[in-house]
Amino acid sequence: MNSSQNAVSQAKSSLNLVLRDRNTFGFDVSAEVAYEITAAEQVPAVIRGVTEKNLPWRVLGGGSNVILPKVLSGATLLMNITSQEIVSSDEKATLIAVGGGVNWHEFVAWTLDNHFPGLENLALIPGTVGAAPIQNIGAYGVEIGEYIDSVEAFDAKSHTFVTLAKDACQFAYRDSYFKQNPHRFIVTKVIFKIPKQWQARIHYADLAKQFTSNLNPSPREIFLAVCKIRTQKLPDPKMIGNAGSFFQNPIVPNEQYKTLLHKYPGLVSYPDALGKRKLAAGWLIDQCGFKGQRMGNVGVYENQALVLVNHGGGTAQDILGLAKCIQDKVKKEFGVSLEIEPNIL
Ligand code: EPU
Repeated sequence: MNSSQNAVSQAKSSLNLVLRDRNTFGFDVSAEVAYEITAAEQVPAVIRGVTEKNLPWRVLGGGSNVILPKVLSGATLLMNITSQEIVSSDEKATLIAVGGGVNWHEFVAWTLDNHFPGLENLALIPGTVGAAPIQNIGAYGVEIGEYIDSVEAFDAKSHTFVTLAKDACQFAYRDSYFKQNPHRFIVTKVIFKIPKQWQARIHYADLAKQFTSNLNPSPREIFLAVCKIRTQKLPDPKMIGNAGSFFQNPIVPNEQYKTLLHKYPGLVSYPDALGKRKLAAGWLIDQCGFKGQRMGNVGVYENQALVLVNHGGGTAQDILGLAKCIQDKVKKEFGVSLEIEPNIL
């Protein structure tokens, strides 16, 4: 291993760094050269260096939404910027600027401890603050885009730092301008706007069930209820490797939805914008009999068919092989294409 840390402005680098603990699938992978980014100012020099040498590069946050190959060639930027400050506060909202490397769940817990409620529905989502706007993380009826004021990022195309206001981020279901422009933006800071006026958002079926006898829950009660549901339904990556939902919930035209519903009266779906319908991919996969199934070292989680797991010793190839089987069967049975949610690097 070779390391250097000449100045705060220079990122520390390591050769052949093992990343088993930095990807929630727990794949046995390593990075040819890893740069630990602890300050935004370190990013331009790293990107300039790899661009000049024509080397591949990618950014790794919490590693909770990626499928990694055995060796990550070129440069891997490990985002570890952990700054956090309240920028301003007036009678309407509080602006909080948070470094891209801050752990998402710890930030949510901090907002509640400090009386800035609003993000409680998004508790226990693995990953970092910097990754949150990229796929516009969402759960239990809330998407993070609603609470973002702006995002600061290094633009590898123009080699400058940019600030994108909320509208420019083009947030949509598991989508954003950053996701639409892969390999371009390195998110260094997210500025959240938390309104002072708070309202419980417990309409999502699973969450509503927790509050049948308490119609006015506090933010803390919602936070705890979300943690409870997630712990029951989703595997803890420390115990069993996974990347949360492996597929997006497919959005289909209303006509197709009606035809499917006629044939499958139990079909689970939600209304979506523009008269379309979002189908529960977990239900489709479950109906195909995959839940709890194993294929070598990988499989489908026993409590939630949308989650693929690494039982130990699995690889990206194994997971993608299983994913292909699922996609083919769902397509054959329902005529619906499932799109993989994590990034395949
Ligand atoms: N279902 C089944 N069998 C299954 C799984 C689900 O029949 O094995 C049916 C059930 O009827 C269930 C419905 O599908 O009520 C929906 O399932 P769930 O409430 O678990 O939500 P989801 O649509 O599977 C989405 C997000 C999750 C998020 C939850 C809660 C996506 C791709 N996934 O899952 O996000 O936590 O809603 O809001 O949108 C993630 O992105 O990694 C993630 C976990």
